[in-house]
Amino acid sequence: MIQMSSTSKTKLGVLASGTGSNLEAIMKSCQKKEYPAYVGVVISDHKDAPALKKAIAHNIPGVFLNSKLFESREAYDQMLLATLKQYQVDLVILAGFMRILSPIFVQAFPKRILNIHPALLPQFRGSHAVQDVLKAGLTETGCTVHFVDEGVDTGPVILQAKVSILKNDTEETLHQRIKEKEHILYPKAIFEVIKSLK
Ligand code: GRF
Repeated sequence: MIQMSSTSKTKLGVLASGTGSNLEAIMKSCQKKEYPAYVGVVISDHKDAPALKKAIAHNIPGVFLNSKLFESREAYDQMLLATLKQYQVDLVILAGFMRILSPIFVQAFPKRILNIHPALLPQFRGSHAVQDVLKAGLTETGCTVHFVDEGVDTGPVILQAKVSILKNDTEETLHQRIKEKEHILYPKAIFEVIKSLK
């Protein structure tokens, strides 16, 4: 049972596989007195993920869970769940976590798992969104924060922000500008979800 009192701050568990720039933006927001959340644990499936180092630099526990030690996706997700429960996490924040979560996991945190995606969902789902957007020759894209359901990038949208695509954009330059928007959007979406839960 998830407990959220109106006086205490909401405890976030962040799952991140890579750079952790969104994690960093969230940790920065959490440093503000008026922000209603704090990061209680960061979990990664990559031992050397910069996200883990960033967590530790902020004195936040960083946990590496090695998927090679588990025989199935479900077994791994059970360990993820056990770790999140051990840290008594209220909300699960996916910030560049490159694994698809099994129904076992999603059902354990109904409407309590958020993800950020580098495109304007429902368009361009999946792990090559920025590349796919560029290939489509559009002039505008963006980013989306959404609740996680049992599909891939299919859950209800919470907030979106638009980003213009420039003529000479590469996947790297475009993704960088999308991330700049993500760093504002994700803390804002987390704030709104917490407000709606209280
Ligand atoms: C972001 O672009 C996010 O939309 C996607 O993965 C990327 C993570 O970047 N899901 P970072 O690790 O937060 O820098």
